[in-house]
Amino acid sequence: MRNSSPEPSPLRTAVLAQLGGAAATFLFVAGLSRISSADFLRIPLLIALLQGGLAAMIALKLHSPRWWLPIHLGFMPLGVIVHGLDIAPGWFLAAFVLLLLVFWRTDQSRVPLYLTNAATAAALLKRLPDTPCRILDLGCGDGGLLRRLALARPDCLFTGIEHAPLPWLVARLRCAGLPNVTILRRDFWSVSLGGHAVVYAFLSPAPMPRLWAKAQREMSPGALLISNSFAVPGQPAEATIEVADRRNTRLFLYHPVPDG
Ligand SMILES: C[S@@+](CC[C@H](N)C(=O)[O-])C[C@H]1O[C@@H](n2cnc3c(N)ncnc32)[C@H](O)[C@@H]1O
Repeated sequence: MRNSSPEPSPLRTAVLAQLGGAAATFLFVAGLSRISSADFLRIPLLIALLQGGLAAMIALKLHSPRWWLPIHLGFMPLGVIVHGLDIAPGWFLAAFVLLLLVFWRTDQSRVPLYLTNAATAAALLKRLPDTPCRILDLGCGDGGLLRRLALARPDCLFTGIEHAPLPWLVARLRCAGLPNVTILRRDFWSVSLGGHAVVYAFLSPAPMPRLWAKAQREMSPGALLISNSFAVPGQPAEATIEVADRRNTRLFLYHPVPDG
């Protein structure tokens, strides 16, 4: 799967910052220990804090978003603290595998898992065509939204595409008894958007330009693209629905047509 953003990969930037912080800390500590035998040079947590500070500074220089800075500051110090807790390595492997199964390649897709709430699902339901049609959820997560919509509109056919194994499995199980829902484990960039009256996306800002280009190429004439929370940059929405929920959700509505 291609990275949909022209920006450098945030994971690469993070690794660079951490390695740079580690190298600078090593040089600093090695240099200082030649001229001093100070005790603090043997305190791993202090050295880890120094590494965290330097990694955060490098991340700042590399134009990392500011929310990465506390992660850089805390990563190595937390590693040192957790190392001292003497936890069996199998637990770390299990946690890693679990996170991988839930979030899959978020480092590439830049789309984490969060779910459409009930108020937004109700607003969405009102915007579905009155006549039977096909509806596609790009990245359907745990299938909760599709289940809700499919129960309310048994005359419509719903398809959910999900690439993360665990959410996909949960979606399959949740929608198993519904004849009007199909859940596919795919990368949605490889799935055609044609033939659907409504394409729903709740993604992140990163893939929106690429999604717009795909929608323009593939969506059927008159079909509606609804994006939860993330507008298409530089493309005024034809309508915006303000949902009366706690996070002030906004739905952006478009009828993509090919350029030119
Ligand atoms: C923000 S969640 C939205 C879940 C669901 N649509 C909802 O509204 O409740 C986005 C989902 O898209 C999935 N996803 C991201 N990129 C994907 C891709 N290229 N192909 C398939 N699924 C993807 C993620 O794994 C995640 O479950």
